[in-house]
Amino acid sequence: MIEIKHLYKSFGEKEVLHDINTVFEDGKTNLIIGQSGAGKTVLMQNLVGLLDPTKGEVLYDGRNIVTMTKREKILMRREMGMIFQGSALFDSQTVFENVRFPLDMFSDMTAKERDKQAQKCLDRVNLTSAEAKFPGEISGGMQKRVAIARAIVMNPKYLFCDEPNSGLDPKTSLVIDQLITEITREYNMTTIINTHDMNSVMGIGENIIFIADGKKEWQGTKDTVISAKNKKLNDLVFASDLFKKVKEVELEEERKA
Ligand SMILES: Nc1ncnc2c1ncn2[C@@H]1O[C@H](COP(=O)(O)OP(=O)(O)O)[C@@H](O)[C@H]1O
Ligand SMILES: [Mg+2]
Repeated sequence: MIEIKHLYKSFGEKEVLHDINTVFEDGKTNLIIGQSGAGKTVLMQNLVGLLDPTKGEVLYDGRNIVTMTKREKILMRREMGMIFQGSALFDSQTVFENVRFPLDMFSDMTAKERDKQAQKCLDRVNLTSAEAKFPGEISGGMQKRVAIARAIVMNPKYLFCDEPNSGLDPKTSLVIDQLITEITREYNMTTIINTHDMNSVMGIGENIIFIADGKKEWQGTKDTVISAKNKKLNDLVFASDLFKKVKEVELEEERKA
C-alpha cells in the first residue's frame, strides 16, 4: 500500500501539485488519469523519489520515502518496478540481457539463478522465442512486454507505469493492460499507472484518481467514472474516441428503433 498525504510540488513559483491525498492498495491496478499537462508524470516522479516534494508524505507501507536518505532511497527503489514512457531498453543488449540486467546490477544471485529468474519473467510475458533478439528487431508491443518482464524481475512490491500504452495501437494496448493487471494480482503488487487512455480507464480502472491542474478532483472506479459529477472529468471522458463510439452506436440503435 502506498499512501500520499498533503503532497505539494512547485518548480520555483510554479505550483504543479496541490495537496494530493490518496491511498493505493495492494493487488490492484490504481490509475492516475488526467489531461496532458495535469501533473501525472510529476506526481509519479515524486512518488518514486526522482523528485522531492515541496511538502507532504509518501508512505510505502508506512515508510516515508520523502524523509529517507539517499542510500535508503536506493534500497527502497529495489522494491519498485518501473515502466516509463518509451520502453527504455538497451539497444545493444539482447531481450534476455535486458531482462536480466537489474539482477546483474542489484541482486546477489549466482549467474545460474539470475538466468533462471530472467527466463521465468520472459516466459511470463510470452517472449521466450524472442530472447536472443535485439530491441530494434521486435515490435513496439513486444518491447513493452520486455520492459514489463524487466520491471518485475526483482519481484517488486510496487510497480509504476507512466503511459504504458503510448505509441501502441488499441489492440496491443489491451494486451499490455491485461498483462499488467494479471501480474499485479499474481505478485500482489501495488501498481500505479498514469494514463489518459479511456480504453484503459474503462478496462482496468479498479481505483482511479483524476487530477486536473495539479489537484485531485475525483476518485472512483471504472463503474462510477461515467456517472461522475465533475465537469473536468466529464470533459476528459466524453471527449474520448471510446465514448464517441459508444454514443454513435447508441444513436444508431435509436435510429433503428
Ligand atoms: N522540471 C520542471 N520544471 C518546471 N515545470 C515542470 C517540470 N516538469 C514538469 N513541469 C510542468 O508540470 C506540469 C505537469 O507536467 P506533467 O506531470 O508532465 O503532466 P502529465 O504527465 O500529466 O502530462 C506541466 O505544466 C509541466 O510543464
Ligand atoms: Mg506525463
